[in-house]
Amino acid sequence: MSRILAAGEVPTTGPVRFVRHEVVDSTNEVAKALVAEGASPWTVTVAEKQVEGRGRFGRRWASPRGGLYLSVLLQDELSRLPIISIAAGLSVVDAFRSLHLEATLKWPNDVLVGGRKVAGVLVEGVVGPHEYWAIVGIGINSDFPKDALPSKLSADATTLRHELGRRVDNESLLQELVGSLRENYPAAGTEERVVARYRTQCSTIGREVRVKTRRGILEGRAVDVDTSGFLILETEEGKSVVVAEGSIEWET
Ligand code: BTN
Repeated sequence: MSRILAAGEVPTTGPVRFVRHEVVDSTNEVAKALVAEGASPWTVTVAEKQVEGRGRFGRRWASPRGGLYLSVLLQDELSRLPIISIAAGLSVVDAFRSLHLEATLKWPNDVLVGGRKVAGVLVEGVVGPHEYWAIVGIGINSDFPKDALPSKLSADATTLRHELGRRVDNESLLQELVGSLRENYPAAGTEERVVARYRTQCSTIGREVRVKTRRGILEGRAVDVDTSGFLILETEEGKSVVVAEGSIEWET
């Protein structure tokens, strides 16, 4: 019988297998079902369209055709979900370099181009029969016009096609992205390397922010992201506060 893997024993490599669909409810849901069927780490579920795409905090993720929607299965510790989500956001920024597009990260992993959101990451944990899994869901507003997004998002969101003024090859972008995630995915104990690169791309650090968490609003200056992937805020009173999850409401 297999056993729950300890930190440091989790597989960080292995072959990538793509499972492709035309339309799904959510690629994260499909990936969850694959865990129950005994799928291997680095199984990547990709769909052309989602009808129930989910975002963080139970929000909807608009998923029209032309976007890139994928969920990567990783076998890992549930305590590492935040750092995995940091690595995933950084991997999107890295993949955009292949398009000659500069992007920044709003903590934890909103990917912004010109200050507007173009991609997001939703990492969910799943308990398997004898092991734990991270389902790394990534959505990119890729090859569709901006007016295909819900109108309420038009001020804050954009698409790659709109920013580049040309079509985007989703298949090449997918390959770049999975390649970047394999490079950035940190083995236990090597998290500092990915966080060091994340800090250089994160537009939240150094700003006065307001963070909406499940427990309430926190305000302060974002001073760092630690090796767990948590945001460190310095309050007006000079106190240091560690924020594990939340959504930045505004930055000044
Ligand atoms: C966010 O910014 O709120 C996270 C958005 C994550 C969307 C992706 S699309 C692929 C995967 N399947 C889902 O239902 N959600 C994630």
